[in-house]
Amino acid sequence: MTEAPGNEPEHKDEKWITTDSRILSDEELKMLQKQDQKLVTEFKRNKLELEAGRYWDLFYKRNSTNFFKDRHWTSREFEEIKRMLSENRQVKLLEAGCGVGNAFFPMLEECSNLYVYACDFSPRAVQFVRVLKPSGYLLFRDYGIYDWAMLRFSPGSKISENFYVRQDGTRAYYFAKETMEMLVKKTGFRVVSNEYVMRETINHKKNIKVPRVFLQGKYQKESR
Ligand SMILES: C[S@@+](CC[C@H](N)C(=O)[O-])C[C@H]1O[C@@H](n2cnc3c(N)ncnc32)[C@H](O)[C@@H]1O
Repeated sequence: MTEAPGNEPEHKDEKWITTDSRILSDEELKMLQKQDQKLVTEFKRNKLELEAGRYWDLFYKRNSTNFFKDRHWTSREFEEIKRMLSENRQVKLLEAGCGVGNAFFPMLEECSNLYVYACDFSPRAVQFVRVLKPSGYLLFRDYGIYDWAMLRFSPGSKISENFYVRQDGTRAYYFAKETMEMLVKKTGFRVVSNEYVMRETINHKKNIKVPRVFLQGKYQKESR
């Protein structure tokens, strides 16, 4: 609903759109003028600029994901987003300053074709956002314990339990299914499957059978 500038809506909670800014009452003008009497010092201004990310990070330390409500209005307010979400092709979105995802999670629920790139300068906020939407699947395959390559590491290569360093400095971890189950459950996933895949590769040159072991699993993210 659009109204002429200066016309107040009948109901206080009504929304209207105008290209003009509000016309202030004398009292409100005085409130603004009072603010100009004392500005933030230059030192503090610079510090706030330099440490803007840290302050937001502390904000998320205090509030975790409990402060902002999910914003279900984004597609109502932006015709472009509404159109994009209703399209039958994959759409990509970048949210700069995503916080803990209160804007893009509702959009992901609305549209299965949506792929979101998101960033935030608060590391804590980023940690609260997992890349996978609720009920999404994590598909996993990596080396499993007692894979042949694990047994062939020479003394001096073992870093810790099931964890080794190769000669070129790259590291390899050999997963036990119990470890994986514990890790995924701790981070909010339900185990759908979690199994060892065994393969025997034949090394013709050495005339030996090489037992390869992989851990393969499908884990579903719990609903929020
Ligand atoms: C009010 S919150 C909104 C979060 C999210 N967009 C939402 O709608 O719920 C603003 C977010 O922007 C982030 N932010 C502010 N300035 C930023 C910058 N220069 N670079 C990256 N993130 C920034 C903050 O860390 C904070 O998470």
